[in-house]
Amino acid sequence: MTELDVVTGAFSYTGRHVAEELLARGRRVRTLTRRPDPSHPLAPRVEVAPLVFDDPLVESLRGADTLYTTYWVRFERGQATFDAAVTNIGALLDAAARAGVRRVVHVSVANPDESSPFPYFRGKAQAESLVRASGLSYAIVRPTLVFGPEDILVNDIAWILRRVPLFLVPGDGRYEVQPVSVVDTARICVDAGAAPDDVVVDAAGPDRFAFEPFVRLIAAAVETRARIRTAPASLALAASRLLGLLVRDVVLTRDEVEALMAGLLVSDKPPRGRDRFEDWLSENASTLGESYQSELRRNFRGFS
Ligand SMILES: NC(=O)c1ccc[n+]([C@@H]2O[C@H](COP(=O)([O-])OP(=O)(O)OC[C@H]3O[C@@H](n4cnc5c(N)ncnc54)[C@H](OP(=O)(O)O)[C@@H]3O)[C@@H](O)[C@H]2O)c1
Repeated sequence: MTELDVVTGAFSYTGRHVAEELLARGRRVRTLTRRPDPSHPLAPRVEVAPLVFDDPLVESLRGADTLYTTYWVRFERGQATFDAAVTNIGALLDAAARAGVRRVVHVSVANPDESSPFPYFRGKAQAESLVRASGLSYAIVRPTLVFGPEDILVNDIAWILRRVPLFLVPGDGRYEVQPVSVVDTARICVDAGAAPDDVVVDAAGPDRFAFEPFVRLIAAAVETRARIRTAPASLALAASRLLGLLVRDVVLTRDEVEALMAGLLVSDKPPRGRDRFEDWLSENASTLGESYQSELRRNFRGFS
């Protein structure tokens, strides 16, 4: 009998690629999601159960060998707070233990820290502590900045560059990012799922870029004439808020800008990612940023 794994968010971004990697390795997949989408290309190949954090969860996890958790919120809005996300991760882990799940692969973030000034990174560290205390065999995977189809951040940088004549890089633009492909991230997750021991690994790509040259690479790929200038973070943030009013989204939060400028989206370990950002960029330049990807529309509006 083929073994069953449960993946959160197989109809969304990272979870989709984790599910594809598991299916390619001959595993059965059930997804926990808020969007049971029969038109999704993976829909005929995965079982679907609701992403809820109460009693039905135990039944949804029953029979699974490994649980892959991608669940998180990008920023706080209404009742979707980081504290609530940590509590929900706890409920997932508790239900997994009760359902007899053997191992959990938990997707975290690079450089989580319980004393971080940034609630996202603090919450991620708290969630990792719950994973370690869960009694389950575990792997924690810490991605940097994930690029790939259906990505939001890189896509929307390209969208702005295509449509707005001036792009403001917050601060001096010398802080670094180390992007990792979503395909590499999924492979690293599934490799970690197959490992025998408790492990904590970074998912980071082979190249590091200072942020301003990173934006210039994207600009060159989409052949824009937009000017790119460094600016005080407060000004760049004010511009992103103005843009947010036009596109009815939260384009960037203050915490995201400050975490980016603190250089948290890099890894100090040998990179496990293989795909080069520049290769992906040139292969996808014609479509990147053609349409705006809204975090609010994708993940907040229309869900209770
Ligand atoms: N994207 C990056 O660049 C990046 C970088 C570092 C770390 N990470 C981490 O990688 C993991 C996956 O990220 P992703 O960008 O691939 O996320 P995603 O696929 O958009 O969402 C992952 C899961 O969280 C659920 N979710 C997302 N926003 C939610 C909200 N506001 N309220 C309730 N549930 C929500 C989704 O539900 P549905 O199944 O219903 O869609 C899905 O199951 C996260 O833990 C994230 O922190 C991502």
